Amino acid sequence: MNIILLGAPGSGKGTQAQFIIKEYGIKRISTGDILRSSSKKNNILGKKITSIIKQGKLVSDKIVIQLIEDSIKKHSSKGFLLDGFPRTVFQAIALKQTLIKIDHVIDLIISNDEIIKRITGRLMHVPSGRIYHKVYNPPKYNHKDDITGDDLICREDDNEYIIKNRLSEYYKFNKLLINFYTKESQLNNLSYNQVNANSSIITINQKLKKILD
Ligand code: AP5
Ligand code: MG
Repeated sequence: MNIILLGAPGSGKGTQAQFIIKEYGIKRISTGDILRSSSKKNNILGKKITSIIKQGKLVSDKIVIQLIEDSIKKHSSKGFLLDGFPRTVFQAIALKQTLIKIDHVIDLIISNDEIIKRITGRLMHVPSGRIYHKVYNPPKYNHKDDITGDDLICREDDNEYIIKNRLSEYYKFNKLLINFYTKESQLNNLSYNQVNANSSIITINQKLKKILD
């Protein structure tokens, strides 16, 4: 089963992805994680990606597609979940051109107020991509990853100033992307569902399972 998880920054894509990949034995491919790992490299591409992420802008389609192509082609036989890709119609068309069948597109819909609360409280374990929240989903021990005990970090782009740019980028491209997948769901054997993501982590997980089962 191949799934695309769409949604604004902080809508819970990464959090829900963690559950879904376990429940269905599929691989998570997160462009945010791939880009953050590339940005650490001390080369021209790494520096370019760092600067774009810090501005809250989208990285160019060309760079993202190049970085994600291999992971998609090498996906496990059980399938994959795309977290944060595609974000533009150009990326969606590039994905379609791989001829890999997408079964479900799930769009997490969330209010702006809730986004700010979630983003400003997020903690992250960088090596694994595990996500916590200071209030909503705290780690067992203060600022430590539950599994490894490593320190958790706050993402550099998780502040109210950068989130405004991230949201405006999201709104700039999202409507066309929704139109694209609405049409795809009418023409091809693909399901497109919007899910209200303002509720608790468990409630959203149950809604997603209902769609996917
Ligand atoms: P990326 O890392 O993908 O960031 P994003 O899209 O802004 O989304 P987030 O990761 O911030 O949020 P999320 O939806 O995963 O929420 P999470 O589960 O963590 O991308 C970063 C940057 O990389 C982009 O800005 C762009 O520059 C670039 N990029 C990435 N992909 C790209 C692409 N395809 N093209 C071009 N550029 C690209 O949850 C957030 C917090 O809320 C957590 O603390 C969590 O614990 C908590 N939480 C989650 N669900 C709930 C709930 N139901 N109730 C209460 N708390 C909750
Ligand atoms: Mg994420």
